[in-house]
Amino acid sequence: MSNLSPVATIASLSAHEGQTITLRGWLYNLRASGKLLFPIFRDGTGTIQGIVPKAAVPEEVFETLKNLTLESSVIVTGKVRADSRAPSGFELDVEGIEVLQRVPDETPFPITLKEHGVDFLMEHRHLWLRTPRQSAILRVRATIMRAAAEYFDTNGFIRTDPPILTPNACEGTSELFEMDYFDDDKAYLTQSGQLYIEATALALGKVYSFGPTFRAEKSKTRRHLTEFWMIEPEVAFLELDGLLELAEGFISHIVTTVLAQHRADLKVIGRDVEKLEAVVAPTPAGERGPFPRLSYEEAHAMLEDAFAKGLIETRHQDGDDFGSPDETYISSQFDKPVMIHRYPAAIKAFYMQPDPLDPSKALCVDVLAPEGYGEIIGGSQRVDSYDLLKSRIEAHNLPLDAFQWYLDLRKYGSVPHSGFGMGIERAVAWICGLDHVRETIPFARTLNRIYP
Ligand code: 4AD
Ligand code: MG
Repeated sequence: MSNLSPVATIASLSAHEGQTITLRGWLYNLRASGKLLFPIFRDGTGTIQGIVPKAAVPEEVFETLKNLTLESSVIVTGKVRADSRAPSGFELDVEGIEVLQRVPDETPFPITLKEHGVDFLMEHRHLWLRTPRQSAILRVRATIMRAAAEYFDTNGFIRTDPPILTPNACEGTSELFEMDYFDDDKAYLTQSGQLYIEATALALGKVYSFGPTFRAEKSKTRRHLTEFWMIEPEVAFLELDGLLELAEGFISHIVTTVLAQHRADLKVIGRDVEKLEAVVAPTPAGERGPFPRLSYEEAHAMLEDAFAKGLIETRHQDGDDFGSPDETYISSQFDKPVMIHRYPAAIKAFYMQPDPLDPSKALCVDVLAPEGYGEIIGGSQRVDSYDLLKSRIEAHNLPLDAFQWYLDLRKYGSVPHSGFGMGIERAVAWICGLDHVRETIPFARTLNRIYP
């Protein structure tokens, strides 16, 4: 009988009101109340509650459902009925059920509606993904990735894919995953595509890369993964001010897209959407409200002031990077992402262009997300002088021969150019309002976990 009615998805039930349809999915939950069963089915697109009165269905349908174990796979037929109280707006009057695989009684689905510890959930990540909140996060992640690429695709950028196996470091040598590369050679998993897309930017003008990146992070924080996805634009003839504009337009597009497409998912996740709306709220003139911009010096002064007033515990030392509590304090002063520029060159990467007005500062930017989420974007204008770059490589004790090709870019038609990288998982954590990046990616890789 299930073959006769049209196959529908839970997300598309509004097109089938009053019709008998077939759903293919899993039993998510089951409540029984005397001669009434209330199974909840899920199919990947959503969940729907079924109603099964004993008197209204064939005996074997009632008996099958009554004893069905959670997460058994099923094909269900039933009539779609609008119900304003239901989260999806509909309920299903179940008429028939076919069980594809019944979860054995001896090995019930390990994840129940009761609270589980994080370790348990991560150990069962392959099954945890099925729960509504985790599925909602993955849907939002997919949209963030699509909107991020879309912003560059529709603004004249060419996607160029850098290699994952590389002969040298990009972001410091202490966090490199090393592997043997035939005979006597070593290769390293890429930390960032930047150096390579500097080459493609000088070939194509405006480019971006989007792929997995790797850092052998020994730190156990809620922001660090050892494998994460980075999207990186790189633009010839772009200087720091233009880079800040680009980052602002890029983040605004992503937040706008998520708000337009994922209200229901954000609700399941428990996100306070007003905080996101503030990010893209227009000015009274109706324009997109600008993100605040602070120099490192201004940010430092803000922290000095906060320390004097007893608002933060540890004093920030001028010249040091900002710690997590510093970033949290700074970002809590604004309801939009904050762009901090011109950090001391000494604490930043070797490839950053010095500020001509104060060469001890780098023409760089970190974008801090609101609500204490910290850095989501790091970027800079790049050194464009051959001699300066060469001396930087030497001063950082990096192997000159591995960087000869990178130096070539400053020998053959060097131009000012800039770019940034955004970690997708940091963006997902902020936009979804999550405590930890481990929930932002299907299978997180961290210092202590590489299973499942
Ligand atoms: O600030 P980072 O290290 O900058 C770069 O890699 C530059 N080469 C990018 C560029 O200019 N093209 O990293 C960029 C972003 C960070 O802001 C953060 O969002 C993310 O990558 N990120 C991480 N995300 C998760 N886990 C980690 N261990 C991360 N390290 C960096
Ligand atoms: Mg950074």
